[in-house]
Amino acid sequence: MEQPVQTEMWKARSLEELVRILHRLFAEDKVSVEEVQALMESYESNPEEWLQYAKFDQYRYTRNLVDNGNGKFNLMILCWGEGHGSSIHDHTDSHCFMKILQGNLKETLFEWPEKKGNGEMTKKSERVLRENQCAYINDSIGLHRVENISHTESAVSLHLYSPPFDSCNTFDQRTGHKHKVKMTFYSQFGERTLCATAVPQENN
Ligand code: SIN
Repeated sequence: MEQPVQTEMWKARSLEELVRILHRLFAEDKVSVEEVQALMESYESNPEEWLQYAKFDQYRYTRNLVDNGNGKFNLMILCWGEGHGSSIHDHTDSHCFMKILQGNLKETLFEWPEKKGNGEMTKKSERVLRENQCAYINDSIGLHRVENISHTESAVSLHLYSPPFDSCNTFDQRTGHKHKVKMTFYSQFGERTLCATAVPQENN
């Protein structure tokens, strides 16, 4: 992905339109991070359009595939119950866009641990992302953990990963030790996946 001199200003008036424009952008040789981020932010969350994909689990956040972007990206809805969070993880050299559809999510950024280190990981920053905001991260920015810190409200987010990936590394905050995990979908295109592959192992 590269930054073009001038980005086109897109506005997605529905989830369907968002997916359509994403396909158009990712069909090009060069895709602008800023353009994709602005496009995702331009979509005003409408639960009627995404509820069919929003499948919650009592114990963990869930990953629900919405569109596989002709192999160029994966677009998915993540459902976070009260107190649910991800492990500290990398993004397997992919671009990650994360838009809030409902509720708030706390994002904590971490430095990569030293290669042979064995100590507490260094926090770089933290922020709370609110409805309709779209964040961006890749491995050169660092590692992150995402949490729904609310005890009363669930949260829903829309993630785009390009290129798609199905495994990543998670990191132990106290030691920096990493662990490769396979990532799975709780549902695909609105249909629950088989139980054997439904639980994302990267979750806490
Ligand atoms: C996150 O960014 O915390 C979610 C990771 C994922 O399961 O895709």
